[in-house]
Parts: sequence; structure tokens; C-alpha cells
Amino acid sequence: MKKTNQLTLVPLALLTAAFFSGCGAAEKPTSAPADAAPAKEAAKPAAPTAAAKPAAGTPGDAEAGKAVYLRVCFACHQANGLGLPGAFPPLAGSSIVTEADTGKIIRIVLHGLQGPIEVKGVKFNSLMPAQGAQLNDKEIADALTYVRNAWGNTAAPVTVEAVAGVRAQVQRPTPWTWDELTKK
Ligand code: HEC
Repeated sequence: MKKTNQLTLVPLALLTAAFFSGCGAAEKPTSAPADAAPAKEAAKPAAPTAAAKPAAGTPGDAEAGKAVYLRVCFACHQANGLGLPGAFPPLAGSSIVTEADTGKIIRIVLHGLQGPIEVKGVKFNSLMPAQGAQLNDKEIADALTYVRNAWGNTAAPVTVEAVAGVRAQVQRPTPWTWDELTKK
């Protein structure tokens, strides 16, 4: 009895190993932040890199962010970042988007936004669903970095650490209102 059990365990173990290594390969793109950070540090001396960056941490990648944007955000905010009048506010030319303090836009993407808001002098009163469950910290940093540097917008990148920090700090089941966001 014991022997047959052990014999059947061997192929099972091999299968499990193959399964997990398969998974690892497939997940590589999404697990990039954890892999990429130490590799970068190893390749470059720490001091000059830190001095060259506007904010401490790993800056979002606008190129990768464009892909996230075209997968998730564009359905509402449109490929040209102009949104749709009466329904979705523009990100192009929005002062909220290019603010030096990235706390608000990180919160909006993580937890969503609802209620009255004014963007470029136009009022909206709608709901953006939270994106925090379906996007990881790097995807959000990438998407926001893209949005801050597309369609004529220019602003410093959003760091992966900034997104991770807000995610760890704030848990809320309901979307923000603009009043709440600007009070904090
Ligand atoms: C399902 C539609 C939808 C999706 C998807 C969506 N948004 Fe929004 N977004 C909205 C709506 C609606 C508002 C305005 C909410 C309100 O009226 O309070 C908004 C507001 C915003 C704002 C603040 C207002 C402005 O225009 O500057 C930002 C920034 C923003 N969204 C970024 C994003 C980013 C980045 C993504 C992708 C990660 C995204 N949104 C995905 C619908 C969406």
C-alpha cells in the first residue's frame, strides 16, 4: 500500500512543479514591480539614481501605462482623454490630473469617485467605480503616469510606492466624493 502511494506521488509532484513554473512564467508581466526594483538597484549605484528622480521610489512607466489606459480607463475617458460631455470628465487638461500632490488621483483610481465635480469649468455628477481590486500598484502608477503626460499634460510620474502607500493606508468600501478628497 505504502509503496504504491509513493509511486503515484512522484508524477503528481512533477505535475505540480510544472504547473507552478508554468504559472510563474505567465504571471511575469504583472509581477514586474517586485522583480524590477531590486534589479534596477543592483544595476545602478543608489545615489545618482535617487538624485535624478523627482520623487523617491519607482516611477510609473508611461508606455506600459498607455496599455493599461487603453484596457481600462478609455472606455469612459476615451482614447483622446477628453471624456464624454455630460457623462465622463476629461483627463486631458484637467488640473486634478496634473496636480503635484498625486494623493487625490491615486485615491480616485483605487476607490472610485462619485457626486458633483467640476473639471475644466464643466460640471459632472456621476460615478467612477473603484479600480483598486483589478489593478495592482504598478499598473495604477503606470496608468496615472501616462495620463499625466498624454494629450498635452505634463507632470512628474506617479511612483509605485505612492500607490502602495495609499492602498495600505486607506481602506474604504465606497467611492470618494470631491468634498471628502479635498478636505483631507
Ligand atoms: C466606468 C467608467 C470609468 C472608468 C473605467 C474610469 N473612470 Fe475615471 N471617472 C469616471 C467618472 C464618471 C468620473 C467622474 C465622477 C463624478 O462625477 O464624481 C471620473 C473621474 C476621474 C478623475 C477625476 C476627474 C478628472 O476628469 O480629472 C480621474 C483623474 C479619473 N477619473 C481617472 C481615471 C483613470 C486613470 C482610469 C483608469 C485607471 C479611470 N478613471 C477609469 C468614469 C470612469
